Amino acid sequence: MRKTIFLLAALFIGGAAYAQQTNPLLQHEAEITEIIKSMTLEEKVNMLHGKNMFSSAGIERLGIADMEYADGPFGIREEMEPHSWAPLGWETDRATFFPTGSALAATWSPEIAYEYGKGMAIEAKLRGKDMILGPAMNIQRLPTGGRTYEYLSEDPILSGELAVGYTLGSQDMNEAVCLKHFAVNSQENMRGFINAQISERALREIYLTPFEMAVKKANAMGVMAAYNKVWGTWCSENFLLQNTILRNEWGFKGLIISDWGGTHSTIGAAVGGLDVEMPGHTYMGEALADSVRSGAVPMEVIDSHVRNILRVRFAITPVPKDVANTKVTSQPETQAIAYKVASKSIVLLKNDGLLPLKNVKTVAVIGDNATRTMGLGGVGAGVKTLYEVTPLEGLQNALKGKAKIRYARGYEPAPQARWGQQLPANAMEEYAKRMEKLKKEALKAAKGADVVLFIGGDNREVETEGSDRTTIQLPFQQDELLKAIAEVNPNIVAVMVAGAPVDLRTVNPIAKGLVYSWFNGTEGGNALADVLTGKISPSGKLPFTLPVKLEDSPAYALGVYPQTEQGGGDVFVNLVNNRDRQAARRADAEYSEGIFVGYRWYTTKNVKPMYAFGYGLSYVPFQYANLNASVEDETIEVTFDLSNRGQQEADEVAQVYIARPDSKVERPKYELKGFKRVAVQAGQTTKVTISIPKEQLRHWNEFQHAWNVEKGKAVIYVGGSSDNLPLQTSVEL
Ligand code: BGC
Repeated sequence: MRKTIFLLAALFIGGAAYAQQTNPLLQHEAEITEIIKSMTLEEKVNMLHGKNMFSSAGIERLGIADMEYADGPFGIREEMEPHSWAPLGWETDRATFFPTGSALAATWSPEIAYEYGKGMAIEAKLRGKDMILGPAMNIQRLPTGGRTYEYLSEDPILSGELAVGYTLGSQDMNEAVCLKHFAVNSQENMRGFINAQISERALREIYLTPFEMAVKKANAMGVMAAYNKVWGTWCSENFLLQNTILRNEWGFKGLIISDWGGTHSTIGAAVGGLDVEMPGHTYMGEALADSVRSGAVPMEVIDSHVRNILRVRFAITPVPKDVANTKVTSQPETQAIAYKVASKSIVLLKNDGLLPLKNVKTVAVIGDNATRTMGLGGVGAGVKTLYEVTPLEGLQNALKGKAKIRYARGYEPAPQARWGQQLPANAMEEYAKRMEKLKKEALKAAKGADVVLFIGGDNREVETEGSDRTTIQLPFQQDELLKAIAEVNPNIVAVMVAGAPVDLRTVNPIAKGLVYSWFNGTEGGNALADVLTGKISPSGKLPFTLPVKLEDSPAYALGVYPQTEQGGGDVFVNLVNNRDRQAARRADAEYSEGIFVGYRWYTTKNVKPMYAFGYGLSYVPFQYANLNASVEDETIEVTFDLSNRGQQEADEVAQVYIARPDSKVERPKYELKGFKRVAVQAGQTTKVTISIPKEQLRHWNEFQHAWNVEKGKAVIYVGGSSDNLPLQTSVEL
């Protein structure tokens, strides 16, 4: 009993300090209180679990509509049967495929993220959805992570600012978002039972910060609990994460839903902070009602869940059933947003002068990804598109009447056995023969062409939800193919269509031009062609580090990933548990690198990456000069001049990193604290101001269990990439 009282006290006290006047979730409190008073236990519990695969119930008696959810995060998912994953096969649900998470992040623009969120919201509304299951915003800890492409960045501030933009854009259109997956869901292997063992400091500074920003700065209305455990407790029943941190510390007023099938208990989940079990009612249906009747779960807990749901329900106007789905989901307005994001996301990594393409008469386009669409695939998060412009189509549009294109596929994905089946005995032999033929055709196309555009990388089966990659090597023997092409034509521009890092050790020295062009959505091919032909200057910057080799990346270097099946535990425990599947169920994910994720690791440990975090070239040279920094009340004001010394208008993403040389705690060499995408006309100079909240320099004090902002010197570095910071100054805090 004492425990229950303590838990309840923690639930209801503490949030007040963060309550924001403008929070649209707090406009109907009195009305909600009255409604809750009038409800039966059965009516209340009926709201706390999935009604269909993607909805949860409202209150029919009172005419309060169901909550309709939509995957998310980069396009509204097609309509499915109410109780299965089987598509309904409609035509009106063809949506815009927006560039995936890392592509959005490569724009380094909260303003573009705002438009992205708005575009997603417009389409969600057309489909009658109340809440988008996105943004997906876990930290990209592993280059191999199956959903790295869906997530935003390895850096918490970049991830957070983009999630804030996405959230504001969507919610300003009266469409709720659902930040996912809360928290520390940074790997797909064993995601359903892994236990994240992580330092308090890394948890706070790296993994929780983006969520905190989207809650505090944008009043995000929904959060999805992750599949995994943190510190031994399932996220969906993690009192500390959901009640203590999310609600009480950050002042979150919205609703928490489980990931699909990610609920594991009745009392634990209900008391631990989960509002809605999705998609079924194994734990939060009849079992929950019984738990209330028996006194194990207090009615106040149920009431607070109902309140959280109703807050969102009242803030979001439901779309009448006869209005939803009367128009095709994808609209010219949203397609234009997808183009804008894609065109600003493409990262130019290397340019020995072949780009932009000029005076080319014959272009060989080689690679399976030149014609492959990337909307669907990779388990969930697929988008049934209205259309998708492939790289080849984009180039055909852009080069029409100017150059002749010879296309050769060059390679194809290896055959894969269907689940539970085996490949036919000669499948690999046949594959090898086909690959040999494809290679010959590619070499023929390449020979004599003015330039070879190699369009390779991964695809949506290689990078996928549910499993991590075992390697970052380019799949399907692309390295061998590239070497062969180079023998007949050295003028190669390689385009990597991928959402996560790939190993560039073969490509980089061979290719004279190298571009990262992401899973870039409905308009991806047009955007790519416009960058390659110089209609627009490339302006994307890497949102993650591209390591030389996988073993350089922190979790691999430390040997803590991939985990063994047994996970943690002492010798005896493992000995006993190895006999059954329980061993795997206890697998610990050791986050031993702590706060040294991504570039924080490479810069501090002096490990040279292939291409650094924040890196990306332009067709124009940018010059940085005249850095000034001053400390104001709550902020550090950083100003500098940015000059475009080229012949064409171009965007640059200016970045501010800060070091604390006198710090009493271990810190990375420097950390990203501010950034801005700036458009500069040819030959012009712009004064750029970046305002950095002092609070952004905080670190988590593990002894006090609190944030500290240390006094003393702050060294400020400014430039266009984490490894190219020409300007430096310092301030005293
Ligand atoms: C994914 C979520 C997704 C949900 C519903 C889960 O497997 O982890 O991101 O929103 O399915 O499709």
